[in-house]
Amino acid sequence: MAIVAATSENIDRAATLLRKGGVVAFPTETVYGLGANAFDVNAVARIFDIKGRPSFDPLIVHVLDDAMLRRVVEDIGPQAAALIQHFWPGPLTLVLPKRSEVPDLVTAGLPTVGVRMPAHPVARALLERSGMPLAAPSANPFGRLSPTRAAHVERGLGDGPDLILDGGPSPVGLESTIVAVDLRPALLRRGAIAAEDLEAVVGPLERPPEDPANAPLSPGRLPQHYAPRTPIRILDFEPVPSAERAEAGALAFRAAPAGYAAVRVLSAAGDLREAAGRFFESLHELDLAGVTRIDAEPLPERGLGAAMMERLRRATFSA
Ligand code: TXA
Ligand code: MG
Repeated sequence: MAIVAATSENIDRAATLLRKGGVVAFPTETVYGLGANAFDVNAVARIFDIKGRPSFDPLIVHVLDDAMLRRVVEDIGPQAAALIQHFWPGPLTLVLPKRSEVPDLVTAGLPTVGVRMPAHPVARALLERSGMPLAAPSANPFGRLSPTRAAHVERGLGDGPDLILDGGPSPVGLESTIVAVDLRPALLRRGAIAAEDLEAVVGPLERPPEDPANAPLSPGRLPQHYAPRTPIRILDFEPVPSAERAEAGALAFRAAPAGYAAVRVLSAAGDLREAAGRFFESLHELDLAGVTRIDAEPLPERGLGAAMMERLRRATFSA
């Protein structure tokens, strides 16, 4: 299969594939992305095809530097500039007015484009050597758990991508935070950078509703998302009877509950950053553990805890 180690030679091979219209899965600090040349409509169409993604969901475009950013976006206001200065390269996506050269297929016809400058050395080397902005959603089948390892990509997408670059586990483990910078900046998706940290730079953000069932169906806000194949519910472990525990898996925050068939603890120290790094990984493992249900303990609703809760709620939501 097409998993290869992210050596210098293989990054060159990937860059060549991308220049020829190929689709390559690569590591970023957040999760693995499924990338193609953002200006090549046919290559971008293959991304949708491989993911089984509805084409109304726009993609994030990854850029190496300021020069590459200018090829994608029209203008950058003072608030976007301040966020860029503080948080790039890193796990923040900004939704900005797009240049006309960016195909409508990338943005689902929106006049804006989501862009981010990744920090991961493999992603950066790939951007540099291919010389082009890369449109890349998370490299998972539509609606499923995001991949934080090359093996997750292979399990989900099989031989869909032309190549999967293995750069080890994604260090952050949670997708980028998405902010639309209009007159008033708005938080479109909670993620790897806590909303509170962004607000320290640009002031109050418009916040999305906590319950995705009440969220409007705007791009990127589909209620069912990030879901393991195993049914999942969010609840305190305490009242769950032992008969129910025996067949179920548990996603715990700090302490392992007794009696579950499989347990993953996100952070014994109660560190939300460490927990985020293990979040998707743990869900992938529980999903493969042969349990009939996953019980997830509620996490503190602040910072990265709020970002993980948003994903858990979407995973539990069934339309
Ligand atoms: O960390 C990440 O952001 C990862 C890595 C690979 O960079 N990418 C990622 O992409 O999570 P994806 O496609 O799975 O999620 C991107 C979200 C989508 O839900 C999409 O609707 C939203 O970003 N989005 C992209 N462009 C947008 C735009 N112009 N307006 C509003 N939402 C947008
Ligand atoms: Mg995704």
